[in-house]
Amino acid sequence: MYRLFRPLLFSLEAERAHRLTLGVARLVQPVASGLLSSLFKYEHPALAVSCWTLTFPNPVGLAAGLDKNGRLIRLWEALGFGFTEVGSVSARPCAGNPRPRLFRLPADRALINRMGLNNEGAERVAQRLQRLRHRRPLGINLAKTHDPGILGDAAIADFCESFRRLAPLADYVTLNISCPNTAEGKTFEDPKALDRLLQAIFTVRRNLNLSVPVLLKLSPPPSSRTVFDSRLEEIVAIARTHGIAGFVATNTAPDRAELRTDPDVLMRIGPGGLSGRPLATRARCLLFYLYRLTEGRLPLISVGGIDSAEEAYARIRAGASLVQLYTGLVYEGPGLVRRIKQHLVRLLEQDGFDSVQAAVGVDA
Ligand SMILES: Cc1cc2nc3c(=O)[nH]c(=O)nc-3n(C[C@H](O)[C@H](O)[C@H](O)COP(=O)(O)O)c2cc1C
Repeated sequence: MYRLFRPLLFSLEAERAHRLTLGVARLVQPVASGLLSSLFKYEHPALAVSCWTLTFPNPVGLAAGLDKNGRLIRLWEALGFGFTEVGSVSARPCAGNPRPRLFRLPADRALINRMGLNNEGAERVAQRLQRLRHRRPLGINLAKTHDPGILGDAAIADFCESFRRLAPLADYVTLNISCPNTAEGKTFEDPKALDRLLQAIFTVRRNLNLSVPVLLKLSPPPSSRTVFDSRLEEIVAIARTHGIAGFVATNTAPDRAELRTDPDVLMRIGPGGLSGRPLATRARCLLFYLYRLTEGRLPLISVGGIDSAEEAYARIRAGASLVQLYTGLVYEGPGLVRRIKQHLVRLLEQDGFDSVQAAVGVDA
């Protein structure tokens, strides 16, 4: 069905198609969630995953960025996602970068975006989520407000403000320290700055008497050959000292290595984060590395270029307890979630695993 609609959607400018789809989805959500749920329903006991104190009915989640303001959570649940990560949300509302800021690269099954953390801000999103009763685990992804003037202590205070407002509403919180679309947004990938940020965030969490798991979202390595990075080792060590509960890997990539798309087209597009299939190898290599660095003790969420059950299964075998998708949905449509789950069960059975959890990290 989606294959019929896709040429029409792809004939529109990418962000327009995106807004149109989400707009229609918002309209139908209240009336059609039940119908969609029966159309897309597929669960199997082997797919259930327990992480932290949460139970995920299946390991396939929606990645941050598609539902930045948490408007469509019931729809994602109806489409069969095992969990949803909303955001990135920042303390202040933000319009993001000027348009155009989202581009398709069909030859590479990829996207480039420089959205610039457009979102309604922590207060508005919190008000919406307070009214919502979600049935499946909800992650809230936080980022520093996209404003180059907010730096140093002000940046830490900004992150803490959104954490204070939104963490009580989340089943887990992801700190996005790796958005490639802000000049200053990646400061917290500097180990010293990260140390100070985590000190502050965990103090707020203690003061609020919360035990919500806090995860860090990391950048991809520049290539699959350059995964072994001493800075990453330092980041992981600092994160573990503070009690980070897991990692989400990876965010989009700033480089354009090994793409099929015409270099002139890429030049015209300009800067932005690359997502989709070209990220897959790097995301998998980073996952292996993180699994080893954390001795398999922390749950890892793998994201980047997952658009099939085979790829999802490879990530699980490489150490992911959960996976997420975004770009795959744009190319394959919402039926992808069910297809991944159905085929994943077959792949597990073929290899003699009785659950996803039994397969986590077997290749690592
Ligand atoms: C248009 C777009 C917007 C995104 N916005 C965010 C965001 O706000 N916060 C975030 O942590 N990741 C964001 N991402 C990154 C995705 O969550 C994901 O890490 C990345 O796209 C790789 O997964 P994929 O290959 O399945 O798309 C965005 C991705 C896209 C394509």
